[in-house]
Amino acid sequence: MSTNFEVPKGDFRGHDRQFIWLAEPDPELTEVGPGTPCGEYLRRYWMPVAMTDQVGDLPYRIRILGEDLVMFRETGGQLGLVHLHCAHRSMSLEFGIIEEGGIRCSYHGWKYGIDGSILERPCEPAASRLKQGTCLGAYPVVEYKGLAFAYLGPNETVPPFPVFDTMVEEGDDMIPFLIESPCNWLQVMENAWDPFHTVYLHTKAVRTQFTDAFSVMPKIEYFSRPLGDFYTNTRRVDDIIWLRIHDQMLPSFTQNGGHFPLPEQSLYFGRCGLSRWITPIDDTHTQVIAWRHFRGDDDPQGLTNKDEVGFGKTDFYGQGPDRSYELRQRDPGDYDAWVSQGPKNVHKREHTAFTDRGVSLARRKLRKAIRKVKAGETLPQPTDIYSDPIPTYGGDTMLRIPLQAGKEDDELLKEVAHKVAEIYMAHDCFKGQERADKIRAALREYESSWS
Ligand code: FES
Ligand SMILES: [Fe+2]
Repeated sequence: MSTNFEVPKGDFRGHDRQFIWLAEPDPELTEVGPGTPCGEYLRRYWMPVAMTDQVGDLPYRIRILGEDLVMFRETGGQLGLVHLHCAHRSMSLEFGIIEEGGIRCSYHGWKYGIDGSILERPCEPAASRLKQGTCLGAYPVVEYKGLAFAYLGPNETVPPFPVFDTMVEEGDDMIPFLIESPCNWLQVMENAWDPFHTVYLHTKAVRTQFTDAFSVMPKIEYFSRPLGDFYTNTRRVDDIIWLRIHDQMLPSFTQNGGHFPLPEQSLYFGRCGLSRWITPIDDTHTQVIAWRHFRGDDDPQGLTNKDEVGFGKTDFYGQGPDRSYELRQRDPGDYDAWVSQGPKNVHKREHTAFTDRGVSLARRKLRKAIRKVKAGETLPQPTDIYSDPIPTYGGDTMLRIPLQAGKEDDELLKEVAHKVAEIYMAHDCFKGQERADKIRAALREYESSWS
């Protein structure tokens, strides 16, 4: 046994910093329940709430934005989403009976349509004074490629359902997934606004979780669009300048590039590997609901796996609790980062730095939007500005542009990032394949101007 009782010396500040255990989370950005400013803001947008393959012939109980709800597919095939408790005397409709046109409470038989209107009250006398009408809370649902989207805002302001261009691409196999995390929604969202963690967490910390090229420190440039932002991560990998482009559309939509990029040859306007929403369950539980995209030439190394994508799982590392605690400690992933920040991260204990520009920007924009809704303003919807499909930018472009004599490479990377972003944005007025073809042609021409 050691007999060395020498007390280590150093600037130990544990006691001085005990205030961090008393600091509170920021309620304005983190509280999502009914009546909260952030909750009201989030309720102004369509958001995915479930995977439709989970909605069978029984009512499906879910919790969204702190509200307990039941989703069901009436026998005619339409999805309904209603408050959990029957409007009569509150039996849970998770025990309801699904019928044509609606759901019936099994306690006294009240039947509701998908909009919550009362269709039948079989135990009441015909002369009962309670008029039939809408008294059960319900929300509209749109179903698309395995995901159910709902709008939990006021019925007077239901916006059109936004269709992004990456939702309707030909030759793209879109597979939905949903994974829960026991933490506040903002932590999960901020992970996507933080491009620098790919260098460390995903590559240098333990091992390469995706591809080695992520170990190169990127140059980041942010670009504002009428409805959201995108940013470019620009890296040099030998003669290739690799631009990885992220869409960041508040409140919760993001798209990133391919999952296993190999910057060895030119790639023009490669599209996103993931279309992802962060949907709060309540203040301390969150779900990532997304589509993984699978296209023929996306995966040169064969590292993707469609079979691994679905309810509670996906085919890239570290997105859920599907590993032993020891493995999570030895090789932590995104899930371990955002969940371990705590049930609700406390911003007052952080020391944000240069690499947190994206996170700081997101928080500022989010706060501003929340305050606008609180003040009664109407925020623009994607469909106010673009007709379907709405142009997005997420994906990878790789251009063969070698080091240029007499030019600082950092300067060159910045110049290329701005030019590529300009090319992307200049083609917003075109749609679908025509837009992609025109962007690709312009990128080829730009690349050839360097040879
Ligand atoms: S509690 Fe539902 S019908 Fe009575
Ligand atoms: Fe990550």
